[in-house]
Amino acid sequence: MAGFIPQSFIDDLLSRADIVDVVGSSVTLRKTGKNYSGLCPFHQEKTPSFSVEPDKQFFYCFGCGKGGNAIGFVMDYENIEYPQAIESLANSMGIEVPREESVQHQQQRELNQTTFDVLQKASTFYQQQLRQHPDKNSVISYLKDRGLSGEIARDFKLGFAPPGWQNLLENLGSTSDDKKALLDAGLLIENPDNKRNPVYDRFRNRIMFPIRDRRGRVIAFGGRVIGDDKPKYLNSPETPVFHKGEELYGLYEAKQKVRKLERILIVEGYMDVIALAQNDIHYCVATLGTATSTSHLQRLFKLVPEAVFCFDGDNAGRDAAWRALQQALPLMEDGRSARFLFLPDGEDPDSQVRKIGSKAFVSSIGEATQLAEFFFDNLCSQVEMESLEGRAKLGTLAMPLIKLFPAGLLRQLILDQLAKVTGADLETLNKMSGDKATTADTHPYAPVEQARAADDPAISVKPKARSNVSHTCRKAVNLILLKPEIVKKVEIDESIKHLESNEIELLFEVIDLALNAPASSTHELLASIYGTPIGSQLIQLQDREQITPTTGIEKEFKEIVQYLTSIAKRKVAQNTLLAEARKKLAAKKQ
Ligand code: UTP
Ligand code: MN
Repeated sequence: MAGFIPQSFIDDLLSRADIVDVVGSSVTLRKTGKNYSGLCPFHQEKTPSFSVEPDKQFFYCFGCGKGGNAIGFVMDYENIEYPQAIESLANSMGIEVPREESVQHQQQRELNQTTFDVLQKASTFYQQQLRQHPDKNSVISYLKDRGLSGEIARDFKLGFAPPGWQNLLENLGSTSDDKKALLDAGLLIENPDNKRNPVYDRFRNRIMFPIRDRRGRVIAFGGRVIGDDKPKYLNSPETPVFHKGEELYGLYEAKQKVRKLERILIVEGYMDVIALAQNDIHYCVATLGTATSTSHLQRLFKLVPEAVFCFDGDNAGRDAAWRALQQALPLMEDGRSARFLFLPDGEDPDSQVRKIGSKAFVSSIGEATQLAEFFFDNLCSQVEMESLEGRAKLGTLAMPLIKLFPAGLLRQLILDQLAKVTGADLETLNKMSGDKATTADTHPYAPVEQARAADDPAISVKPKARSNVSHTCRKAVNLILLKPEIVKKVEIDESIKHLESNEIELLFEVIDLALNAPASSTHELLASIYGTPIGSQLIQLQDREQITPTTGIEKEFKEIVQYLTSIAKRKVAQNTLLAEARKKLAAKKQ
């Protein structure tokens, strides 16, 4: 599975796979002229706006903006990453995917494989103990008392680490290699001070919750005491295969159970995830004793458009919710939603769902507070809304946060709302935050006049200005990917290169590619660079940026090039002036 997929293979696969067949196996298509159309599988619609173009080997939805080649379709449809999509496509065509890999990579992979293997063996061992150990009855009745069925215990592969210090060692650690593997996997603890047991089992007399990665491999465990001892939960340490801050407990199980996840509920504990699943709510995940991070959320928003955070209704819960909101802000693109479900004091999702039942719990999820509402509730509660000063303070609190939103309708609506509740006008608010470019940069490549008014972005090296150029470049790259021939039709002024940035470099690499490659279609262009650093940059980019409808691509590209040229020329002019000034100064000194 691991390793590079040779580029020639991907080229070949794409030329053999017909996008009409690939899409047609999941979507009912009708021929309309030389193209095909159907109902878009990526959003709800009644009339078809989803189109497949055999000429370009491309699909595009005019409703939701999704588009791509056969591999892209499989990625989106099956919710999987690029290499897995290649596997899946090849598989459906009865072709095996060849892999190449570096020696270093191979060694790391073998080491990881040993770790995965031993973790799987440990998981199997713990599950067996839950069925066989002399103490099993008390453990099983504990689980039953908590409302769990055998079926749920099986789905989540719950197990039992029996009492004793050497169980894993004796059962799985007979050779020194095995022992090393157990240590690497975080299942043993080494402590030379402990004379009787210098090496011993980490998990003893605990209910075991295996944590699985996106491919279902066991990567770590959580273990709960059966009574009231401390610590209540013990987790595996960080290992090469387990990075606590990135994993979400229950995500694999949710994806297994629900074919098309629409929302994900984020809770705090292992038992919350399991109790909700027991009550037929299968779309829940838990962070592993850490706060929800942006990287957690990035992962979730790749899968679903809606994240619902579940917290206690007490102060600590609201504080945690506010921290989660701040992590979510930069990800709140239009079309995504984040909401907050506050539970009654003293309840967690486990106790609550058992108390009010599945149906009532689901409807409480449906009524969870919208991000915008929580945003204003929380900020308003910090100021005195009756006084002028209070409302002004609201503005100062809100503006830095609003700036974290990506440009879009949601941000605009929140700004409007802020203007309404403070009574200030938008211009004042923008000025107050020092963010004069707010209006300008909601347009990805503002007309020159506007950009100039906005603090002369791209020329100065302020981060704001940079991001405007970067955003514009990314847009341009996406347009080229969509229609490579535009680079031949639009004159591109070399002065743009003076705007030094990574994105400009990327843009010119893509321009070169499109100019020189014989490739005329998007998929050939993408295929020809897969596996190279620029290829991976582009794939990331494609995730982030929406694709534009085929009409107007050239026009849009032309406008971008003009915009970049104009700011580049101003930069050159400014540099010349500076250079002359320096020369004069130097001459004076002599
Ligand atoms: P809670 O203390 O809320 O536990 O911890 P819980 O989920 O309600 O557990 P039950 O219902 O008593 O079984 C929430 C999460 O915090 C982490 C675990 O991930 C737990 O699921 N935690 C908690 C630890 O890592 N260690 C601890 O000692 C306690
Ligand atoms: Mn609990």
